[in-house]
Amino acid sequence: MRVLLAGSTGVLGQRLVRRLSEHGHQVHGLTRDERGDRIVRDRGGTPIRADLFNPDEITRHVDNVDSIVHAATAIPRKQRPSAQDWAINDEIRIRGVESLIEVARRTGARHLIFQSVVWVARPDDESPFDERAPVNPDEVTQSAAAAERIALNAGDEYGFTSTVLRGGWFYGPDAWHTQSFGERLKKRMLPIIGDGSAYWSILHVDDAANAYLVGIEHQPAGVFHVVDDEPVQVGEFFRYFAEIQGAKPPLRIPAWLARLAAGSFSTDFATTSMITNAEKFKSATGWQPQFPSYREGLSEVVREWEEVAIPSR
Ligand SMILES: NC(=O)c1ccc[n+]([C@@H]2O[C@H](COP(=O)([O-])OP(=O)(O)OC[C@H]3O[C@@H](n4cnc5c(N)ncnc54)[C@H](OP(=O)(O)O)[C@@H]3O)[C@@H](O)[C@H]2O)c1
Repeated sequence: MRVLLAGSTGVLGQRLVRRLSEHGHQVHGLTRDERGDRIVRDRGGTPIRADLFNPDEITRHVDNVDSIVHAATAIPRKQRPSAQDWAINDEIRIRGVESLIEVARRTGARHLIFQSVVWVARPDDESPFDERAPVNPDEVTQSAAAAERIALNAGDEYGFTSTVLRGGWFYGPDAWHTQSFGERLKKRMLPIIGDGSAYWSILHVDDAANAYLVGIEHQPAGVFHVVDDEPVQVGEFFRYFAEIQGAKPPLRIPAWLARLAAGSFSTDFATTSMITNAEKFKSATGWQPQFPSYREGLSEVVREWEEVAIPSR
């Protein structure tokens, strides 16, 4: 299959270029600089230096693709992101998917995947939910909900299959947040906020890449959640992460203090449950996580850090 991938140089995208190439697919990865070209080439893909928001430019390089994947993002890495920081991410989601829909129309693609996040449908009462739950976006996931709708409607209107893959919170050895958490836990500078009892649905990035691979190969229509098999309490996740690095258990701070120090976004994310499952995606594609819980996944992260020097991103 010929696949066009936006976000081909990211934590998820790099893996996906490699997995698709290993499976005999031709991957065209959108890039923005020489570093990106090298990343895509080294993993068996063909770089396309073009602006995500410019379908004319993209279609000058590719005129015939089967599947298009939107996995570009600019989720802010600051502890206290500004409205402006989030606006860039919103633009990548909304204008990005609109541009790729136009590319799909012009290239005759049969399939489009838009990446989203499971917490776009997290209910206010924090109860377990699945793909049948109505979307319930907050300020920063409104653009994800809007882009999901645009992708699904375009599929109906122009006759291609749209898949929305909502990922749990990604972690992995080269993921920026994982690296930052790992470092701060070692220094005992990452406290658990509140009682740490909120649950997260999470996913190792290797499993995320495999999910996109089978999503491209099976092309299921609609919305799917992709998470591992065991939602984990935030406090347990960080205690275990500290322990396997040989660090002392994290300290604890009350939520009001965290709000002052780290802002509302990080505090709310750490203290609000999102509990979901990937049963629908598993039945549609046969996908199974290689790391069914944080225990296997984090152990692999730390093992890789010990064995391989991971360059900071
Ligand atoms: N992180 C999570 O917990 C999580 C959970 C569920 C779903 N997701 C979604 O999964 C996707 C991949 O996440 P990730 O962790 O792999 O992200 P990442 O490592 O930060 O990679 C971001 C990618 O987007 C590209 N990009 C950024 N700004 C761009 C722009 N203006 N135009 C074109 N490309 C741009 C980057 O290209 P450069 O290398 O050129 O900067 C890079 O390829 C995202 O869409 C994210 O929303 C993430």
